Amino acid sequence: MSSSKKYKIAVIPGDGTGPEVISEGIKVLKAVAANESIKYDLVNYDLGGERYKKTGEVLPDSVLEELKKFDTIYLGAIGHPDVKPGILEKGLLLRLRFELDQYINLRPVKLYPNVPCPLKDKGPKDIDFVVVRENTEGLYTGAGGVLKKGTPDEVATQESINTRKGVERCLRYAFKYAQKRNKEKKLTLCGKTNVLTYGFDLWERTFYEVAEDYPDIKTDYAHVDATCMWMVKNPEWFDVIVTDNMFGDIITDLGAMIQGGMGIAAGGNINPEGVSMFEPIGGSAPKYTGQNVINPLATICAGGMMLETLGEDKAGKRVENAVIKLLESGKLKSLDAGKMGMTTSQIGDWLAENI
Ligand code: IPM
Ligand code: MN
Repeated sequence: MSSSKKYKIAVIPGDGTGPEVISEGIKVLKAVAANESIKYDLVNYDLGGERYKKTGEVLPDSVLEELKKFDTIYLGAIGHPDVKPGILEKGLLLRLRFELDQYINLRPVKLYPNVPCPLKDKGPKDIDFVVVRENTEGLYTGAGGVLKKGTPDEVATQESINTRKGVERCLRYAFKYAQKRNKEKKLTLCGKTNVLTYGFDLWERTFYEVAEDYPDIKTDYAHVDATCMWMVKNPEWFDVIVTDNMFGDIITDLGAMIQGGMGIAAGGNINPEGVSMFEPIGGSAPKYTGQNVINPLATICAGGMMLETLGEDKAGKRVENAVIKLLESGKLKSLDAGKMGMTTSQIGDWLAENI
């Protein structure tokens, strides 16, 4: 991108260990930006459990309108032990994804060198794929309802909404991503066509229709249960996986575990035409708050993805390469909080110096 551009980055440190990991992410961002002559302004937003407890506000409309004017958003973590589950997730994280129409949730599953993997006989050459998760539809829209709540006749429905437009734009993104990634040039649709005969029928038909526009990309299909099995048994079979919101949520937690845990798993909520948001895919880990023991690598890698999505590919690669260098150095004893042999801030310092 042009070096005259000054990126406007909104930062939401959030709850629990979010602020600690985000400050390391910013430390690394600052270092790589200096090396690559990237200019940016950071604006901090105090959103999350603490603000909600103090003011009752989760995401004021005025703040949402302001966020729409940024180039990108860098998010720490959302989730507070004293706030009823669902309030912050729905009111903040999911609302941002929906309102900013971040219709892609991009989650690389990559085992870096020296990272302990729970799969026997699998190494970095076997575990290197990307999940493209639809991020604004499916079971996440809140469609459904309840009748006769609390009675023996209670009825509860939760509907999966799949629109042709939503499915098609996600699939097109995934095909293009497989092209750009240029690894196996293979895209696997993960679904459940044998049971979900409306929703995944739409996905499947659209998948093969769109595939005609990308003749260089090999297509493949796997049911979601089989996908889980192959992710453990033969993860090397995958290059890019595309799937709906709920299945994508589930398989990427499995993905995080085979790549070394939540400490390293990064994700991007992407609106290719609008404002995207980058985050570690793990939670706020409140019990480790303020101890300087949480792993900031997922957040730092999310920062690298943010740079790439802004068009700063070289800077994004540099972040990833610095993380790989740290892992190869053997300095880190583990990727798990409290067992790393380095503090949260020492990791950020090392990366900032070695980038
Ligand atoms: C994720 C999280 C969220 C999701 C929760 C916190 C709503 O698990 O980003 O994967 O289900 O999408
Ligand atoms: Mn999840």
